[in-house]
Amino acid sequence: MTRWGLSPRESCMAKTTIKDIIKAKQEGRKITVLTAADYLTASLIDEAGVDIILVGDSLGMTTLGYETTLPVTMEEMLHHTKAVVRGVKNSLVVGDMPFMSFQLSEDEAVENACLFLKEAGAEAVKLEGATDSILSLVKRLTSIGVPVMGHLGLTPQSIHQFGGYDVQAADDKAAKVLLQQAKALEDAGAFSIVLEKIPAAIGGKVSQSLQIPTISIGGGPLCDGQVLVTADMLGLFSKFKPKFAKRYAEIGDAMKKAFTEFKDEVEEGKFPTEEHSY
Ligand code: KIV
Repeated sequence: MTRWGLSPRESCMAKTTIKDIIKAKQEGRKITVLTAADYLTASLIDEAGVDIILVGDSLGMTTLGYETTLPVTMEEMLHHTKAVVRGVKNSLVVGDMPFMSFQLSEDEAVENACLFLKEAGAEAVKLEGATDSILSLVKRLTSIGVPVMGHLGLTPQSIHQFGGYDVQAADDKAAKVLLQQAKALEDAGAFSIVLEKIPAAIGGKVSQSLQIPTISIGGGPLCDGQVLVTADMLGLFSKFKPKFAKRYAEIGDAMKKAFTEFKDEVEEGKFPTEEHSY
């Protein structure tokens, strides 16, 4: 038996759906999420059996070299989402709505969300926050068939409003607001909510209070699933090293070693040899 209790053959053919993600919480199975911005990474994550691939706007920093996620455009997100979709057979693909793609008007936000599904081939969108206008948008999107993943706590698109990357919902009042926002997102139709950089106890409380799954990134072990930014967990991105970003490999060091060896061998005339020639 493999993920979702299927035989290996069934599992090979099973595309993860929103229903599977909600059922995972009901059955107490942890949900796994990793980010990707390109075809090759997406295909490896998919082959590893990770449930959801998020084309996160963190690609602005990890792939495009911006200082924050704020400059990322719809055009860039659609371009990367298309590449990811081409690499995926089973994982559910979620496209992250970039800053200014959903804040200006509801009609424009609906159009942008639909482009993730219609043009890029994603199966859901993620958006940050839970203001009244965002809740109204989530209701409208889910009513027309666009599944929505919410994102609360430290929402990086509001970094200037927060004035830094501090832990959110750190006092009782803020924790109460977060819980209300999470419930409002669930009522609006969101199928899951990312909880970023909040106290573990609050992550647990929110998870317990909702029917839909919570996905932690610095939200503690009591959430229903876990997301990491792939460049962080592979040791490729070292500009920030948040406490929640466990490193599973040091691929950055391995790449640098390979690049240096290549340079040295070419300069010393050790590569190419007869073995690599025609
Ligand atoms: O953009 C992103 O990668 C994200 C994750 C941090 C959840 O939003």
